Amino acid sequence: MTPARAVTAPAIATARLDLLPLRAGHAEEMAAVLSDPALHTYIGGSPDTPRALRSRYERLTAGSPDPAVSWLNWVIRLRDEACLTGTVQATLAPSGRGTLAEVAWVVGTPWQGRGIAGEAARGLVEWLGGTPVRTVVAHIHPAHRASAAVATAAGLTPTDDWHEGERRWHRSLGG
Ligand SMILES: CC(C)(COP(=O)(O)OP(=O)(O)OC[C@H]1O[C@@H](n2cnc3c(N)ncnc32)[C@H](O)[C@@H]1OP(=O)(O)O)[C@@H](O)C(=O)NCCC(=O)NCCS
Repeated sequence: MTPARAVTAPAIATARLDLLPLRAGHAEEMAAVLSDPALHTYIGGSPDTPRALRSRYERLTAGSPDPAVSWLNWVIRLRDEACLTGTVQATLAPSGRGTLAEVAWVVGTPWQGRGIAGEAARGLVEWLGGTPVRTVVAHIHPAHRASAAVATAAGLTPTDDWHEGERRWHRSLGG
């Protein structure tokens, strides 16, 4: 089995978006993008200050302490408006059936409803298709229709498995 840590995040371009590997230097702009408490309705927590976000991004970019696990994080840049709008992430780990990626997405309130999360999630999952990842999963609150639609756009389907009140969504990749 290929260790998940062999995979690193490249820049990924889609029609309107550049998914750029997360850096600590993105924290200041991202703190404003993610400043609406409503973003935490289904995922818990509250918005970070720029300083707290920078420390979180420093921890994320330092990488997982478990060498078998790979933390891949991107900011979503809207190319024409030259601004950051959100993040996508994939956590890669070995599983019984090859490498598994757990994915998640956030788009700042001012940019929601423009298909940005769907386009970013599709780009991410397409890219994962060229890596050792064989299974993509996401955990989504059952009342979160927008996130369910994003998962559907990325080719995931709902399963009957639940984890901490969230439904597991799933897609198999490759052979
Ligand atoms: C979930 C989230 C990323 C969606 O971002 P977005 O950029 O607005 O999503 P899109 O514009 O790509 O829309 C995706 C779909 O959701 C639908 N949608 C958007 N807002 C909706 C709402 N409030 N209710 C129902 N459907 C909604 C859109 O119509 C679209 O459906 P379609 O693909 O069938 O046309 C954003 O709401 C968010 O960041 N929420 C907070 C963080 C979060 O909960 N993340 C999920 C963790 S897995």
